[in-house]
Amino acid sequence: MSDREQWSSQSGFILATIGSAVGLGNIWRFSYVAGENGGGAFLVLYLIYVFVIGLPLVIAELALGRRAQGDAIAAFDGPAPGSRWRYAGVFVGAGAVLILSYYSVIAGWALKYFTGASLGHLWDTASEGYGRYFQSFISHTGEPVIWQAAMLIAAALVVAGGVRGGIETLNRFLMPLLAVIIIGLAVFAVTLPGAQRGIAFLLAPDWSAFARAEVHAAALGQAFFSLGIGMAVFLTYGSYMPRSFPLPRSAVAIAAGDSCFAIVAGLAIFPAVFSFGIDPTSGPELAFITLPQVFLQMPVGILLGAAFFFLLSAAALTSMVSLLEVPVAILVQRLAMSRRRATALVGTAVLVLGLPSALSFGLLSDVRIGRHGILDAADAAVSNFLLPIGGILIALTVGWRLSRQDAIAESELQHPWLANAWLWVLMLMVPLTLATILLQSASAL
Ligand code: PFF
Repeated sequence: MSDREQWSSQSGFILATIGSAVGLGNIWRFSYVAGENGGGAFLVLYLIYVFVIGLPLVIAELALGRRAQGDAIAAFDGPAPGSRWRYAGVFVGAGAVLILSYYSVIAGWALKYFTGASLGHLWDTASEGYGRYFQSFISHTGEPVIWQAAMLIAAALVVAGGVRGGIETLNRFLMPLLAVIIIGLAVFAVTLPGAQRGIAFLLAPDWSAFARAEVHAAALGQAFFSLGIGMAVFLTYGSYMPRSFPLPRSAVAIAAGDSCFAIVAGLAIFPAVFSFGIDPTSGPELAFITLPQVFLQMPVGILLGAAFFFLLSAAALTSMVSLLEVPVAILVQRLAMSRRRATALVGTAVLVLGLPSALSFGLLSDVRIGRHGILDAADAAVSNFLLPIGGILIALTVGWRLSRQDAIAESELQHPWLANAWLWVLMLMVPLTLATILLQSASAL
């Protein structure tokens, strides 16, 4: 596998991994989940889970991928070639396709809003109310599919361009731009009159929320989704990483970059929401119904709104690219397909598989899976089951199947106590915590 592609530079690699982590999860999902779970207390718990459970898993994924220098199947198969563990690679590949199938639908909504905000018709519709606007858009039969397809085509073009030419180039250009936009929006928001209440909501914890099991579950679920662990994205990106890149430092940059982005996004959103007297607990529609109303009332809001929806679409794109790369790498390696063909195949499969999600508020709005509509059910299946199962598989592979020396050497953790703590977290803490969450989710079905 000596002709396997590699990242051209460490900074390109870090930007691509942060690009994967930073997505709809940091802006759309973080803001409404934090809003529903009490703000500050949720934020503290989320940060604890990111660094205690998330960071060790990011190190594990990168180490396993770099060790394999191959796709997800090779990584799980590596410790004992030919064993059933290779199916764990198939599982995460299929899981990435499932995530993409509904993630691309929401990414499509963001693109529609960005286009509407830049061309102006998003603002002309203010009189009918954004609740109506959003509802009539997502319940349309053709439109959500078209916007979803547009996002998928963009992601496929990037992945078809290769690890350096496509993925690294896109992230090198977009990630610094997104950082500037989100910081700009936050600086603007915290200077609005009445912004303090929004800042306090996000940063001042209500300690009683710590005792509530559902706040813990929401924080852990958000940490997993926001980092994007469990579906072999870091494992696959890690397989293009040369030995010369420092592994633990890269993992810390990913976890810190992702959580900083979420906090700054919170600082852009909550002060504005409070400043205009809006309820922060409005749920998934916060970004698509509440915020356009807020933008409309702000000075230069039209410009800020366009910047916000550009940010949302572009952040979603860099995450979609990373999810697409997981199954594409598998097809290229297993079926000796060209990268272009593999990308076209996976992209088409995602579009077809995503149709029920795209239509779940219109044509298929009567279909219920348990308490959920189709898109919500896909999201719940991913955060409550798929990501935790993927996390357990990775933790068990590195913690139990690799030899102790091998695991520690691959992680590059220098201090013995750090290396031991890391292994201990992977061997016991991750499997036990995630198994508890899985049981809890299963009993809530
Ligand atoms: N981390 C991405 C986000 O915050 O939007 C979403 C994601 C990417 C989830 C990759 C899962 C994954 F494997």
